[in-house]
Amino acid sequence: MSRATVDLPDVVRSVVDAHRHERGPLLVVLQEIQERLGCLDPEVVPLVAAEMNLSRADVHGVATFYRDFHSEPHGRALVRICRSEACKSMGAEDLVAQVETALAVKTGETSPDGSVTLDQVFCLGNCALSPAAQINGRLHGRLTPDRVLAIARRDAS
Ligand code: FES
Repeated sequence: MSRATVDLPDVVRSVVDAHRHERGPLLVVLQEIQERLGCLDPEVVPLVAAEMNLSRADVHGVATFYRDFHSEPHGRALVRICRSEACKSMGAEDLVAQVETALAVKTGETSPDGSVTLDQVFCLGNCALSPAAQINGRLHGRLTPDRVLAIARRDAS
């Protein structure tokens, strides 16, 4: 869906309507809006608040608390390298540094060609296979920079 053709109030209203009967649907509503739009545009917050009769602060709080929500579209491959203790002890910081250098981005940025977004995460529950990462939602372990880049490039193609 092209951003230029998106009617934000219409998208928000239809998603909220689909979940209005559920208990505490804010998280699901925000996830579904992000799925439809490719990101959680900041303009969405007041629209969701109005539709759900919540304060903007409540919606903003949830939208900014969870790392899965992002206000800008990410690259075709989203690489989230674990930087928690077990992975750090197995070289995660070197892995991050080498991937950053290879992609010419810092963590949190998207490569200039829009193919890969590099992000971080803190424990994926895959500590036995450290260093670990999640790439486009799939878990990978015992990673090297070459493997991260190969998987990311494959996923981005
Ligand atoms: S510390 Fe990295 S997966 Fe648990």
